Amino acid sequence: MIELTRVEEFAVITLNRPDALNALSFSLIRDLGRAFDEVATSDARALIVIGAGAKAFCAGADIKELTGRSLVAQKEGAKLGQAMFARLDALPMPSVAVINGYAFGGGLELALACTFRLASRNAKVGLPEVKLGLIPGYGGTQRLPRLIGEARALEMILTGRTVDADEAHRIGLVNRLIDADPLAAGIAFAREFSRYSLPVLGFARSAVTRALDVALSEGLKIEADLSTLAYQTRDAIEGMDAFIDKRKPVFRDA
Ligand code: CAA
Repeated sequence: MIELTRVEEFAVITLNRPDALNALSFSLIRDLGRAFDEVATSDARALIVIGAGAKAFCAGADIKELTGRSLVAQKEGAKLGQAMFARLDALPMPSVAVINGYAFGGGLELALACTFRLASRNAKVGLPEVKLGLIPGYGGTQRLPRLIGEARALEMILTGRTVDADEAHRIGLVNRLIDADPLAAGIAFAREFSRYSLPVLGFARSAVTRALDVALSEGLKIEADLSTLAYQTRDAIEGMDAFIDKRKPVFRDA
């Protein structure tokens, strides 16, 4: 149900359960966690996450598995999904969700745990859990307001309404809209940063994400520390030397 492949220097995870619009069964979520671990220790320069079929990125948690469970089992399920998506969030390389159709509930939460989101023009996204008598459980109530602000996140979560690709782009939920073949568009996007130093990209990601959890004065200290760490890399020496020598830098992730 999960395919992990390699396209050039990129890892590609395809959710491959198109008959159920790539819904996240618990076994699929565990497979995803294993795939994230494999990507984490690989030399891939970025991870692309995409859904199989023309219709959906992912229609969310498998609703057929959710009924008739104990509260303990329900909480364990939420913790499992959160933990697997936290592994995605913590990958050493940036990740790109290519939302090639529906991304609802846990499917949108999967995309929110990626570093970037691209969406095809026919994409439709939402957190419709409230329509099932539920609320998001795989990080949506936490990552969505950090991305689009409290008011817009509350509106999406409390109405459960479907947001089309244009609106998702306008409110900053997705970085870009794509026209071409979705996977090719994801790869082309990843190429925009993949030749830079991975540790330096990691310092930048860490500085930005930590900014959201701390006061400005604390965040500025974090930035000073991380920018000093970046400065200590050989890649920083190479980047500045290359500028002065008027040549292209060759970064070595060191
Ligand atoms: N779970 C299980 N099966 C699902 C599913 C899901 N989330 N979404 C779609 N499917 C299945 C359907 O049951 C159907 O299977 P059958 O052919 O066996 O009946 C197949 O996928 C195709 O779906 P539809 O016939 O419904 O396709 P559609 O084009 O008419 O509608 C849709 C598409 C609007 C996305 C609709 O399928 C839908 O609303 N799906 C549910 C979306 C949703 O509510 N997601 C949130 C789940 S809860 C959650 O994710 C909690 C959390 O925070 C972790």
